[in-house]
Amino acid sequence: MNPARVQQILGSFDKIRILVLGDFMIDEYRYGRAERLSPEAPVPVILETGVRQLPGGAGNVVKNLESLKIKNTALGVCGQDQEAEVMRGLLSGCEELSLIADRSRPTTKKMRIVAGTQQICRLDQEDASSVPREVEDEIVSRADRMIPSCDAVIISDYDKGVVTERVIESCIRSSHEKVFISVDPQVSRFGFYHGVGVLTPNHHEAGRFIGMRLETDAEVEKGGRLIMQKLSPRMLLITRGEKGMSLFEGDSVRHFPTRAREVFDVTGAGDTVITVFTAVIAAGGTPEEAVFLSNQAAGLVVARLGAATVTREEILFGHEHPERS
Ligand SMILES: Nc1ncnc2c1ncn2[C@@H]1O[C@H](COP(=O)(O)OP(=O)(O)OP(=O)(O)O)[C@@H](O)[C@H]1O
Ligand SMILES: [Mg+2]
Repeated sequence: MNPARVQQILGSFDKIRILVLGDFMIDEYRYGRAERLSPEAPVPVILETGVRQLPGGAGNVVKNLESLKIKNTALGVCGQDQEAEVMRGLLSGCEELSLIADRSRPTTKKMRIVAGTQQICRLDQEDASSVPREVEDEIVSRADRMIPSCDAVIISDYDKGVVTERVIESCIRSSHEKVFISVDPQVSRFGFYHGVGVLTPNHHEAGRFIGMRLETDAEVEKGGRLIMQKLSPRMLLITRGEKGMSLFEGDSVRHFPTRAREVFDVTGAGDTVITVFTAVIAAGGTPEEAVFLSNQAAGLVVARLGAATVTREEILFGHEHPERS
């Protein structure tokens, strides 16, 4: 892609607004030093030296949007607890933050205890059952109000109960086929997404949905076409790790390799793909441009530790200096 065109698309990011709907959570890291063995149990005693809290799940998509300076609104659920305030704080950059407090569940939190560079354990606080009916009603009515003022919706389903079948159907209805909907589907709900803008499963998830192994180009082509027939999305983007991505649109399929990198941490690559792909389409880019730029952005992210994000400059720079990206 020529740099002037990349710059033009990045410039158009100023004009778009994206709604992120899904499972928001807190990623917490408690760092410390392993001092000695506990007299109470055969476990180390850790002296805490620092705490880091980050928006996780759908919150990581928001983080990706913020890093690209794209206006975003967020719709999700939290508990009625102290963590809910932490979550609001972590998402305070949203133009409109719509978190529905569900008294029946805790705010989803994943806490890791890390001694030196070693993760000792993870403590999860969550209730992953579907939200109760009255909360679902509220999600549906807020989505219906929020979607028309956005250029695109990213449904970020981490299987924590927010994205129910009825929420999915109502989002698709509220978009009136005008607002672009992107989904990184959970395999269990894959089949509910009929007629969305783009589905972005990885090859394992896509394969599980149709009961096939999707490794080679030929296998991916066959499986992808089957998914296109079943669900009729405008596009299907199957991500394939170091092999890059395959894009299906109507009857066409194209494979986009990537420069395989040494992976430091693949966490969050999927969120970067869906964020950049959706933003480029919302900003008026073509599907090829969206694939090119999201492939490149994800390549940058996997080479970093933690759920990393990219900036506009890095997208442009990565493009201008491929040997250094
Ligand atoms: N080794 C790699 N080298 C270069 N790019 C990579 C590598 N691994 C992943 N990527 C990039 O990240 C994209 C998404 O990776 P992958 O298909 O593994 O997604 P995922 O398993 O859904 O990720 P996540 O764990 O974040 O959900 C790929 O399409 C590619 O652009
Ligand atoms: Mg993924």
